[in-house]
Amino acid sequence: MSQLLNLARAAHLVGVPRGSLQRMIRAGEIAAADGLIAIEELRRVFPAAEIEDSGAFERVRTIRDEAFGRRLRERVLPSPEVLAQRLFAQSQELADLRRYLQAYHDLVVATSERIGELAAHDARLRPLAEFIHTGLKGALDSALASPLDAMANMMQVISAQVTVRPSGHHFLVEGNDSILQAGLKAGLRLGYGCGSGNCGLCKARIVSGETRQVQHSDLRLTEQERLQGYALLCTHTAVTDVVIETLEATGPADIPPQDLVATVRAVAELDAETRLLHLQTPRSSRLRFLAGQLVTLGVAGLGDDIEQTLALASCPCDERNLHFHVARDDGAPLSAAVFAGRIRAGDAIGVRGPVGDFVLDSDGARPLVFAACDTGFGPIKSLIEHAMASEQSESFALHWLATREDGHYLDNLCRAWAAAYDQFAYEREVAADPAAGAHRIVERVAALGGLAEREVFVAGPPAFVDAAVAGFLAAGAVAERTHALAL
Ligand code: FES
Repeated sequence: MSQLLNLARAAHLVGVPRGSLQRMIRAGEIAAADGLIAIEELRRVFPAAEIEDSGAFERVRTIRDEAFGRRLRERVLPSPEVLAQRLFAQSQELADLRRYLQAYHDLVVATSERIGELAAHDARLRPLAEFIHTGLKGALDSALASPLDAMANMMQVISAQVTVRPSGHHFLVEGNDSILQAGLKAGLRLGYGCGSGNCGLCKARIVSGETRQVQHSDLRLTEQERLQGYALLCTHTAVTDVVIETLEATGPADIPPQDLVATVRAVAELDAETRLLHLQTPRSSRLRFLAGQLVTLGVAGLGDDIEQTLALASCPCDERNLHFHVARDDGAPLSAAVFAGRIRAGDAIGVRGPVGDFVLDSDGARPLVFAACDTGFGPIKSLIEHAMASEQSESFALHWLATREDGHYLDNLCRAWAAAYDQFAYEREVAADPAAGAHRIVERVAALGGLAEREVFVAGPPAFVDAAVAGFLAAGAVAERTHALAL
């Protein structure tokens, strides 16, 4: 009987984004029923060579070859207790299958012998006796299970799958991740607050499957909540495949205002005119935000208290590490302090927010077009990383305009995205005049056609944003799907 895999697991196994598999199903290139794909179908569409190139194959092979080396065990494998529970569950399944198989085998052998005896007296039964004999021999002589079947079984040991109701989203839990961490890494907009078992905001009902607490919690669930199957997603991991019931944020209105104090991890030079400000939130107080949103940063104790609103340049899937791309601007207090070297690693910075609706559509499977100018790339980077994590979009087109010759301060990152993803196109532009650069980008995008089907994001200085938005709309982009952020 063929193994059936859902999209998340199938995509992981053959090393392609989930969005690509969805597109192939829609195009009729791969057969699926009720969101499940048979392993034979995967093997047909992804020949062995391609599967061997996939990350999943490499990972399973490394695990086998390195005999569960320490480094690998920490990164990929769950805790020994969870691993033991998963192995036990799979051993039980194997034992059941073996028992069924033995019973069927005994029955077929006995039937074959009985028909053989009868065929000795009745020539009409000889073809039937021969048919059973040949079929049985063929089954016993057939080749070993394919590596793909073995990989699928192995993946059930090193990862567990979570299905979220009512959204129907799926994601995998690997290593020692909690369900919350794994969900955020997969780009889901799950509800949470502290991330450390204190606030109760990540509480969800476990509809089926087995979970295990992997982190201490001071919060006590009520007896009724426990009886109803509630658990904290930030302190529990999935032992078996589980189904959970929880609401995900659909837009900015679902994200509460927050006020916390983070620590400066680093201030790094991206180029002569741009700095990376890297903040880390405390373990017990994290920032929940949507990709593309902004926060107000405040620093006390530098003479005057200073404040500045900046766009987040990192993905909400890494909720403790907050990145900002700070442009040199002597008129902006925080930027001036950063460039003057007055903000250093270890300093405390207040974070208030998030605000803004420059965010991805919660079910966005449309092709995405991003147009950035200078540090407008920051929020665009946040959106791209989140879209990649959620694997929903079919394709990405990034156009980055720099108003200085050397202004593409993360050019290598963009090239790496384009190299790693088949459906990622990256074009860089240089123009001293942002509006002129915007017109060039609009012309390039419009020449490809299909703007009405795309979700368009534009970020940068007002002159760039105004020109780009007007141009995209005139070229056929839909107003509700054209998002702008002027910085
Ligand atoms: S208890 Fe606060 S996020 Fe889980």
